[in-house]
Amino acid sequence: MLTKSARVLVLTSSTRPGALGPLVAQWLMETMTPRAAELGVELVPVALGDLDLPFLDEEEHPSAGVYQQEHTRRWSEVVDAADGFVVVTPEYNYGMPATLKNALDYLSREWAWKPIGFVSYGHTSAGTRSVQHAKQVVTTLRLVPLGATVAIRIGDAVEGGRLRSDASRDAAGVGLLDELVRVAHALRPLRERARAGALSGPVPGSYVRRLTPDDAPEVTVLQRCSWVDEAVANDTLAIPALHESLEDVRDWLATWHTTGVWLDGRLLGMVRARRVDTDWHVGRLAVVPDLRGQGLGRWLLRTAEAGAQPDCRRVLLFTGAKSLRNIDLYHSEGYRSAPLAAPDGTTCLTKDISVRQH
Ligand SMILES: Cc1cc2nc3c(=O)[nH]c(=O)nc-3n(C[C@H](O)[C@H](O)[C@H](O)COP(=O)(O)O)c2cc1C
Repeated sequence: MLTKSARVLVLTSSTRPGALGPLVAQWLMETMTPRAAELGVELVPVALGDLDLPFLDEEEHPSAGVYQQEHTRRWSEVVDAADGFVVVTPEYNYGMPATLKNALDYLSREWAWKPIGFVSYGHTSAGTRSVQHAKQVVTTLRLVPLGATVAIRIGDAVEGGRLRSDASRDAAGVGLLDELVRVAHALRPLRERARAGALSGPVPGSYVRRLTPDDAPEVTVLQRCSWVDEAVANDTLAIPALHESLEDVRDWLATWHTTGVWLDGRLLGMVRARRVDTDWHVGRLAVVPDLRGQGLGRWLLRTAEAGAQPDCRRVLLFTGAKSLRNIDLYHSEGYRSAPLAAPDGTTCLTKDISVRQH
């Protein structure tokens, strides 16, 4: 798949026996499933009634993320793993059902920067007052409510305990999913920045995290554009970074410890490192062309070096023998060049780290 897939929870809010909610949710799942397959989206139906969430019984404020109860930890994992939500909700007394409010209140960070769409049902207002009520609450959690909506008037839509087929309602359900997925992708950078393990980066607003095989598309683009300069400087196209396939990149991302700097979903720079015997190998240091000369490469190099285990004796890296700009950077960071270039036109640089202050 070319773009990252999304996981969408379809939440059924009502829990009372004989509720209409499951019927509406079933229609929605059946309607959205073909479109979800086209979009590479995983739809996960979740009934709040199956979660066994009592009224909020955690001592700490949810923003602390300190959960004492097993049911909270389970709910946290489910919500955390999702990229967006479709809530199927009735209107109870002009508002959302208490079950939905309670499920929202349980968590905090897990909801942030994810889209939420509503499929409501009710009598005269088709559940729309419930949705208005919910929107006011969800924005506090940094959920992003969609404009697209499906509102079902029970009197028009339900006959003999079944939902009448309705092509315009089906189209609205698909439209809701389309909008949800677009917003989920657009919000991905904000989610990544907020997620555990992402640290602030050296460029204002940027964040840093370990790259995984899922990042192979961005890494492939970055290294191809970065190594064009190398190719020109060294008068050769025989540079692995220019030729590697998506699969090749995926493979090495699984084994190297690779650090990436991101800004609003754009990969600005990267560096990879791993241990070989007592050497710490560093490579694939790359910075997007428009941010070169601003210290990002130096920052990445130092970050990669800092990952070396205490018993590593030297850092070792390779660059094109004619890549003078790179070589200048490495020399200024304490590297020494090997006297001779290798037959493939690369040169090896090393830095002694056997005596380090820990
Ligand atoms: C406690 C309660 C309050 C309700 N309040 C409203 C309301 O404010 N507006 C409305 O249109 N319908 C209201 N209804 C009727 C519901 O729309 C209808 O019963 C619907 O089937 C409820 O969804 P559920 O079957 O999934 O629980 C209310 C129903 C209940 C049980």
